[in-house]
Amino acid sequence: MSKNFYITTPIYYPSGKPHMGHAYSSIVADIFARFKKLENYNVLFLTGTDEHGQKIQKEAKKNNKDPKEFCDELSETFRSLTKVLNLSNNDFIRTTEKRHHKSVVDLWNRLVTSGDIYLDKYSGWYSVSDEAFYDEDEIEIVNGNKVSKSSGSNVEWVEEESYFFKLSVWSKKLLEFYNKNPQFILPSSRRNEVIKFVEKGLKDLSISRTSFSWGIPVPKNEKHVIYVWLDALTNYISALNFPDVENKKYKDYWPADVHIIGKDILRFHAVFWPAFLLAAKLSPPKRVFGHGWILSDEKKMSKSLGNILDPLEIINKYGIDQLRYYLVKEVSLGNDGSISMENLKNCINNDLANNYGNLCQRVFSFIKKNCENKIPKSKRLSISDKQLLNNLKNNLPKLINLMNNQELNEYIKIVVSFSFDANKYFNDSEPWAVKKKDPDRMKTILFTIVQQIKNISILLNPIIPNATKKVLSIINFSSNDIKIDKINDDNCLNHDKELDNLEILFNKIENDN
Ligand code: MSP
Repeated sequence: MSKNFYITTPIYYPSGKPHMGHAYSSIVADIFARFKKLENYNVLFLTGTDEHGQKIQKEAKKNNKDPKEFCDELSETFRSLTKVLNLSNNDFIRTTEKRHHKSVVDLWNRLVTSGDIYLDKYSGWYSVSDEAFYDEDEIEIVNGNKVSKSSGSNVEWVEEESYFFKLSVWSKKLLEFYNKNPQFILPSSRRNEVIKFVEKGLKDLSISRTSFSWGIPVPKNEKHVIYVWLDALTNYISALNFPDVENKKYKDYWPADVHIIGKDILRFHAVFWPAFLLAAKLSPPKRVFGHGWILSDEKKMSKSLGNILDPLEIINKYGIDQLRYYLVKEVSLGNDGSISMENLKNCINNDLANNYGNLCQRVFSFIKKNCENKIPKSKRLSISDKQLLNNLKNNLPKLINLMNNQELNEYIKIVVSFSFDANKYFNDSEPWAVKKKDPDRMKTILFTIVQQIKNISILLNPIIPNATKKVLSIINFSSNDIKIDKINDDNCLNHDKELDNLEILFNKIENDN
């Protein structure tokens, strides 16, 4: 079985500062990427910026900047966000790079060769903000303006010569493909949405524009630029050195295991992208996972609505692990979810400070005081010790399965319950009460609870990498030791080395904070 895993985020429009919605797509993808690393996979995790098109050209003009110069600056803010969010991405692609240009031109030429492209005239509705074409029945009038029903953004009438992709001929093949690959679109509610849309029959897709120039020119007809979505989607293979399909990176990593995206861009990824690839005789990705929206005041957070929560502000105030944990614990991954500062504080206090953080702090300070600051060895585990450890170990296949199906909320729920159970075990076992009359029992309790802290920390590591790394380094785990298979290994602790001090992991947040 291949031990390679390729996961991507959407590439972001560098049209403004990154916001919480962008942070969310990236954090979610990072959690899955990190989990696969714990499973010993060679993970390729790609993110980047989507820099061409009318939206960016307009925004650059508004700022009196040349589009490339504008993108250079803003793309940098997205690149530095990867550091602030503690993403483990090993590539960052910009669609203005040479490697990408080459790849898009080759894909275009393949579609010409396969007979899937023709020249005609487009007339219809276009939203610059979404960079999307809409049918008459997909728009409505709000306050006298024509807007897209799905995104609410303004549309304008466009009439221009355009190349078309023969999407209409792919409806049947796509439906067959969805049928053969029931896990291609997740969650299943999104899959049904897409199938319904394709079943209605697909129209050919306009894939070039002539009314502006900021894009990749169409080969042999440079007054056209390639439609920004055809350009952008190709990033996923540009990063694998496409068109060289014989190179190791492409062979190891394509088809991608999962594209993590927001539900607003599902159609592009689950309909257009596999159709382009099938037409070009390339494999479609294995999965597209469409998450819901982060809402603020019950509305999608977006620049145009002006209701943005700035991830950087929250990170500066509370910390990155705290934000990562909150976003994925409180928002159900496939659905929309509202976030608020009040819930964020409660979540940090209850789950992180009082539960996991407090458990680690109590156990390690007890060991410091009572066991010469070394992890004790155990003589013989009692039934309750075994129960605690085995409950987690027996759940491991289930947990792995949940993560492989992007069922992140259920995963977290189970792991947090282990942490509650561990706290309860520590309280009920009362090592302080037996330390004089039965020191061996005390040692066994401590051995057990440290094993459990190790196991919980490994499972939480993809979500809160900083805090868990601190805890695991106390018990001599280096980053490379943090692996799922260490959960079943009760002999991997060092009992001879004195433990370092564990600094406070999560500060409790007072109400006026
Ligand atoms: N450039 C395209 C993607 C091209 S991928 C080949 C794009 N960019 S975007 O910057 O507008 O959005 C990127 C991602 O952020 C999308 O997955 C989108 O769903 C996500 N989010 C933007 N606002 C969001 C929320 N309020 N909530 C959650 N995610 C949302 O689309």
